[in-house]
Amino acid sequence: MNASPGLVTMILLMLGGTSGDSVTQTEDQITLSEGAFLTVNCTYTATGYPSLFWYIQRPGEGLQLLLKAAKDNNKGTKEGFEATYNQKTSSFHLGKASVRQSDSAVYYCA
Ligand SMILES: *[C@@H]1O[C@H](CO)[C@@H](O)[C@H](O)[C@H]1NC(C)=O
Repeated sequence: MNASPGLVTMILLMLGGTSGDSVTQTEDQITLSEGAFLTVNCTYTATGYPSLFWYIQRPGEGLQLLLKAAKDNNKGTKEGFEATYNQKTSSFHLGKASVRQSDSAVYYCA
């Protein structure tokens, strides 16, 4: 992936759901200046209380687990990323306070 210096490009895709459960990512591609606040939305449709995940795939690398949340642990944080499991809004939005060029990646909600 080519990125202009100082710009951070996120490509956002969606992993297919299983057994009728699904997630929806509304953003397609986001370009941000370094230091900007990153928000990547994810909403889900599921029965009960599913486990939710954010995966990151950096250029030339494999899929890595970034965050996980479940009923008993509703907030995931790692390396400046955070996501809160919000059952009221069926959402698990990913946030990061200050993006860096090295955050350029594909982000998957699952
Ligand atoms: C992301 O979610 C927030 C809060 O629910 C909402 O205000 C915003 O419009 C959403 N953005 C997109 C691109 O869907």
